[in-house]
Amino acid sequence: MKPSLKVLLVSCATIGATSLTLAQSAQPPSNATPSLQYANQGWTDDDRQAFYTTSQGSHMIPYLWFKALRRLDVDEPFAGDQLVRYGYLPNDRSKLNPEGLPVGFAIDGDVSTGQLGMSCAACHTGQVEYQKDGVTQQLRIDGAPALTDFQAFLTDLTTVSKATLENADRFGKFAHAVLGNRYSATRAEALKTDFAAWLKQWTTFMDRSLPASSPWGPGRLDAFGMIFNRVAGKDLGIDANFQTADAPVSYPFLWNASRQDKTQWTGGVPNGLYINAIGRNAGEVFGVFADFSPKKRLLPPPIDYGRSSIKFTNLQQLEEKIRALRPPPWPFALDQTLVDKGRVIYAQQCGGCHDPKPLPEGTWLTQVQAVGTDPRTYDNAQRTSQTGILAGELSPNPPGSRLSNPAATDDVLATVVVGALFEDAFPPLPKLPNPNSGVWLAIRKDFSVVLPELQKVSLLGLLRDRAMLENVKTHLHDRLANIYKLPGDAHAYEARVLRGIWATAPYLHNGSVPNLWELLTSPAQRQPFFMVGSRTYDPKNVGFATDASPFKSGKLAVSGADVQPGNGNGGHEYGTALTDEEKWALIEYLKQL
Ligand code: HEC
Ligand code: HEC
Repeated sequence: MKPSLKVLLVSCATIGATSLTLAQSAQPPSNATPSLQYANQGWTDDDRQAFYTTSQGSHMIPYLWFKALRRLDVDEPFAGDQLVRYGYLPNDRSKLNPEGLPVGFAIDGDVSTGQLGMSCAACHTGQVEYQKDGVTQQLRIDGAPALTDFQAFLTDLTTVSKATLENADRFGKFAHAVLGNRYSATRAEALKTDFAAWLKQWTTFMDRSLPASSPWGPGRLDAFGMIFNRVAGKDLGIDANFQTADAPVSYPFLWNASRQDKTQWTGGVPNGLYINAIGRNAGEVFGVFADFSPKKRLLPPPIDYGRSSIKFTNLQQLEEKIRALRPPPWPFALDQTLVDKGRVIYAQQCGGCHDPKPLPEGTWLTQVQAVGTDPRTYDNAQRTSQTGILAGELSPNPPGSRLSNPAATDDVLATVVVGALFEDAFPPLPKLPNPNSGVWLAIRKDFSVVLPELQKVSLLGLLRDRAMLENVKTHLHDRLANIYKLPGDAHAYEARVLRGIWATAPYLHNGSVPNLWELLTSPAQRQPFFMVGSRTYDPKNVGFATDASPFKSGKLAVSGADVQPGNGNGGHEYGTALTDEEKWALIEYLKQL
């Protein structure tokens, strides 16, 4: 066993059942079985299980191969611990989860031929833990940021797969596990060829994408860096388009997401209708390992965007769940006098940027502002790419324009996303539009808001009425215009509505501030580093414990000599000049938002 892995294993026990202590109160560790509860957010158990297990068409690795891989540090299946060592949350075996995969991992297809992939819940489900009556309480929060070390998971999966290919003994066991009673030497050789081909593309992608010297660590991921590499590098087959994904961001929370008129940390995705959501989520699946191979066609439309594993219908179902999700209520006691004092301070110092501002369509205006926080996420979003077979394609940025070569990578992504949506809704002849396609489900839900005159028309009626059909196409083009375009000034990020903010530490787009008390401390006085990854809740400072992490890469330097570009904790100085007493009052108010 490598010493580093041993450290990881030993310390992993601290996020398991046994030795949790609450940061603020020195309670003795308890040995009782932890008690898992769900925050009251408006979901039934069925909603939750559907959200945890529905495939969005993400294809990481054939499931049987994944199941047959064994760890290098101990002789156990790679996912034998339900990936708890990377911070993923366990989920019970059930009809929807026959293989007992962790929350947000799904098999696309059946167990014997399907692919393992990740879904929204792997990255957007959180849990806070605290002691009560000598028992560890685990409070599951749906839509909250994951505290997972995604990069460590990807890296270890790569390492284990390489060892499996290279070590004859390991490969023998792997082949027997995959092939079962179909095993023969010939079949094992064929498996080896397939596995080597998968591993080659997987490793190439990871080597070019993951930052070697400054890993993301727990609770962060460079989502756009990965999506851009996937689409512009791998899917278009242009090596020069790869760049290291070195601007990790904090996982955002989802309960307000469908109401904001813009989403993503940079505010780059127009939002509000289901069609916006399915566009945003299609971009995400491209990044989270969807198979996608755009090809030139002989007859118009010139590019076939339909060759992808994205499950649009499931994306629509997942988004409908998220719409119903409410912010989690604060689970501890509150001092109402302090709350009332804090309300006044909030209105003076914070509400101008963070209060929901209702728009006519029912969404909230999202302010995207430069407040002096770390520039790298914004800067990386400015990258450009060669466009290959997409050069000259119709681009939605702005509608009617053509993709140049090179072009903003944002525009490349926008072009393939809108292309894939149109392909799903209006496949070229001889195929006919399928009324149950995900994009049509989204469009029909949106009619009630934006095109009520179309609500009563059947899809067939619509397809017969060319004028109306053009109306729908124009609607799609307009609503998807400027998707991924940055709306704010240089280094501007979204000033989100803060409902439920207590459950979403660490804070700021790059996760550089561990709790609300630190956010209200002037940047020069904020801690230069802290530990990330503990789920032990700190109800006083409002965030997670920062004195220990179950992860090897859990220490995050955010200022001083050790800080890596992208990780700086500067900026957002609002409220830092308040007295301590005023700050505690403001924090009390923020707890119950
Ligand atoms: C691999 C992890 C991962 C998966 C899987 C994932 N997301 Fe995300 N999601 C992120 C990260 C990281 C961001 C922040 C990206 C950014 O803005 O730079 C994000 C951003 C978002 C946002 C914007 C939130 C805001 O307030 O700006 C929404 C909404 C969202 N995701 C919903 C979803 C849905 C729905 C799914 C599944 C269909 C999904 N995500 C799957 C990691 C993930
Ligand atoms: C001028 C506008 C503005 C004012 C005033 C303002 N904020 Fe912010 N706030 C922002 C922006 C922009 C961000 C996003 C910055 C980033 O992610 O880098 C942000 C981020 C935050 C976050 C982190 C959100 C998350 O999901 O991680 C919290 C918490 C927050 N602000 C609280 C406050 C409080 C409390 C006050 C009042 C003391 C306040 N803000 C005042 C603009 C503002």
